[in-house]
Amino acid sequence: MIIRSVELSDFRNYKSLALSPDPGVNIFYGDNAQGKTNLLEAIFLSCTTKSHKGAKDKDIIRFGEKEAHIRTSVDQDGRVMRVDMHLRAAKSKGVALDGIKMRRAADFLQKLNARIIFFSPEDLAIIKGGPAGRRHFLDMELCQLDANYMEALSVFQKSLTQRASVLRDARERGSIAEFAPLLDVYDKTLAESGKEIIRARKRFIEEMEPVMRKTHALLTGEKEHLQLSYEPDCTEGRLEEEMRANRTKDVQTAQTNAGPHRDDMKFIVRGKGTEKIDIRHFGSQGQQRTAALSLKLSEIQLVKTRQKAQPVMLLDDVLSELDDHRQTQLLESLGGIQTLITCTGLDDFVGKRLSIDKIFHVKEGSVTAEN
Ligand SMILES: Nc1ncnc2c1ncn2[C@@H]1O[C@H](COP(=O)(O)OP(=O)(O)OP(=O)(O)O)[C@@H](O)[C@H]1O
Ligand SMILES: [Mg+2]
Repeated sequence: MIIRSVELSDFRNYKSLALSPDPGVNIFYGDNAQGKTNLLEAIFLSCTTKSHKGAKDKDIIRFGEKEAHIRTSVDQDGRVMRVDMHLRAAKSKGVALDGIKMRRAADFLQKLNARIIFFSPEDLAIIKGGPAGRRHFLDMELCQLDANYMEALSVFQKSLTQRASVLRDARERGSIAEFAPLLDVYDKTLAESGKEIIRARKRFIEEMEPVMRKTHALLTGEKEHLQLSYEPDCTEGRLEEEMRANRTKDVQTAQTNAGPHRDDMKFIVRGKGTEKIDIRHFGSQGQQRTAALSLKLSEIQLVKTRQKAQPVMLLDDVLSELDDHRQTQLLESLGGIQTLITCTGLDDFVGKRLSIDKIFHVKEGSVTAEN
C-alpha cells in the first residue's frame, strides 16, 4: 500500500493542507507543537476510521470549526482509491470510497484493505503499562485484519455500556429479578460477540508468537528468549457460564466482571538460567522497551510476510528514543515500505544507513517540501 496524497481541512491545527509523500522514506521535521503528530494521525484515521490514540472526533476538528475533512489517495498495487472522510462535532463520522458513501465501517475497511502501522514512544511503554494498552494494540491490529472482528468489537463495546446502565438500575432498585430478562438479552449479545473476539485474539497471538520469538532473539543477540501468550480473562467456552455466575457481583459493582474487556497478553523471558520472568511485572525498563520494540517489529514482519502486503509505516518521534543498535534494527526492518517519520531535527539521521527520499518541514500547521 502507498499513500499517494493527503489533503486536510480544519483538521487539528491544519486549516488546509495538500501533500504528496514519496513512496519511499519521508521525513517530517519541525519544532514541538507544529503539527507533525497531527499529520500522521490524519493519515492513520483516514485508513482505519480510528485515531491511533483513541481521540474523539469533536477534539480533532480545528478549534472553533464545525467540521474537519481528510482526503487521502491510497494506492493498492496500482489501483488508486480515494478516501473522503468527514468529521462532525455532534454526529458520527462519514466516509466515502471513490465517491460512494460507506454506511458501515466494516464495509469500508474491507474494501480499502489498508495496512498501516503507527509507532510512537507510547508503544515502547506497552509492556510496562497496564492491560488496556495491550488490548488496544490487539484491537487496532485485528480491526485492520478482520472486518468481522471490528463488527464484533463494536457490538461488544456498545452492549457492555448498555449492560452497565441496566446493572446500575438494578442496583438502585435493589432488584435483580426485575431486570433479569433484560440482562439475559445483553448476556447473549455479549457472549456471541465476546466469543468472536476471544477466538480472533487467540489466533492472532498464536501467529505472532514465533515471529516475535525470532525478532526478540535477533534484537538481543540471542541473550534473551521471549515467549508471548494470550491471557484471556475467561476462555471462549466459559464466557456465558462466567457471566451467569457473576450476575449478583455484577449488579453490586454495576459492571461486567468477566469477559474479553479484561484480557491481557503475557510476555515471559527466559534468561540464562531456567527461571522464567513475567516482564510486565518484573522486567527491567530496558527489557520492557526491547520487548515492546520486538512486538512492533513483529507486527511489521507479520503484515509483510504472512499477509503478503506492504504496510505503510508511521514512525512518530520514535527514533530518538532508541539506541543505535535498535534504531538500525528498526530501519532495516522497514526495507522497501513507504515510511513517514517525524522528528524534531535532522541530526538523528546523520551517519545512519537510511536513504531518505523526501524531506518536509512542518511549521505552524503548514508543510513544505525541501527537496
Ligand atoms: N482540535 C485542534 N484544533 C487546533 N489545534 C489543535 C487541535 N488539537 C491539537 N491542536 C494543536 O496542534 C498543535 C500541534 O500538535 P502536534 O501533536 O501535531 O505537534 P508535534 O509537531 O507533533 O509536536 P511534538 O514535537 O511536541 O510532538 C498543538 O499545539 C496542539 O495544541
Ligand atoms: Mg508529536
